[in-house]
Amino acid sequence: MGERVTVVEVGPRDGLQNEKRIFSTEDKLHLISFLGKAGLTRIETTAFVSPKWVPQMADHDLVMRGAERRDNLELSALVPNEKGALAAIAAGAQALAVFASASESFARKNTNCSIAESFERFKPVATLAKQNNLPLRGYISCAIDCPYEGALAPEAVGEVADQLLGLGCTEIAVSDTIGQATPMQVDTVLRYVLKTVPADQIACHFHDTSGQALANVDAALALGIRIFDSAIGGLGGCPFAPGAAGNLATDALVKHLGERGYECGVNLEVLGDAERFVERVDGLLVVKGILSK
Ligand code: HMG
Ligand code: MG
Repeated sequence: MGERVTVVEVGPRDGLQNEKRIFSTEDKLHLISFLGKAGLTRIETTAFVSPKWVPQMADHDLVMRGAERRDNLELSALVPNEKGALAAIAAGAQALAVFASASESFARKNTNCSIAESFERFKPVATLAKQNNLPLRGYISCAIDCPYEGALAPEAVGEVADQLLGLGCTEIAVSDTIGQATPMQVDTVLRYVLKTVPADQIACHFHDTSGQALANVDAALALGIRIFDSAIGGLGGCPFAPGAAGNLATDALVKHLGERGYECGVNLEVLGDAERFVERVDGLLVVKGILSK
């Protein structure tokens, strides 16, 4: 058996947050169920963010409460502050994720505060995660390029990683929010993060705007990274990052890892059911088979 790589499915959160059409809770729950059946062991299920900012995630409570639970499946929630963390925990989230940025401009656009203020908001989240014995992921958005500031200094990214680790994050997700990174840039930034964060606590979250995501996965694999995010059907993007396209598609990632001899436990046939469940027609994502209003 090949070496294990963990695939973190972010479609129900990163994917659906960026769709013009708002999916019904029922459809979201069906999608999450398909993904669990396919053998994914970690699914970012929803985001407990302000419904005024991201109406697509307004039903976070119902989604987290209703999501099908399985052995060996962790249902996580993205949270920006204590309010989100309290609600996510009450709804049964099995892991939390905060999202920091290496870019001041993006922090403001995405969370209406500075990087330093975002860390003040994360402190009670970290306390709650610890008290409830929940893993805590810390994203670093715009770890390579920012739609507002351009290329980021890798030192700045390393510093944010260090701060997240100090906060109590159990995993740091180095994120190429707008999907413009090249393998060489990924190599450079990861080497900075690796100065303070062990490889087994680093995940890579690649968007695939410029078709480099798989090459970037290879660059990260070469440095010992074994946790990768992807979204079913390559959905995704951030409403506050102009130009951000979809995440790396889950089936492409699973095939790619398989070809390289890694084992991730995802059944491609069942994953195909999840993929066929949503389909883009004239630019709009529609759900097939199950009625959505
Ligand atoms: P704010 O307006 O500065 O905060 O938003 P506020 O404290 O003044 O609150 C405003 C309203 O939001 C209040 O309601 C709060 O109660 C409510 P009102 O009194 O007006 O009725 N509120 C909340 N409601 C539900 N859940 C909460 C919550 N907190 C406050 N947790 C805030 C600040 C951070 C809340 C806002 O900016 C926000 O929700 N931003 C969300 C941004 C977001 O979701 N972005 C997309 C996800 S990040 C991403 O995609 C990147 C990633 O994929 C990695 C990558 O690719 O880089 C992770
Ligand atoms: Mg993202």
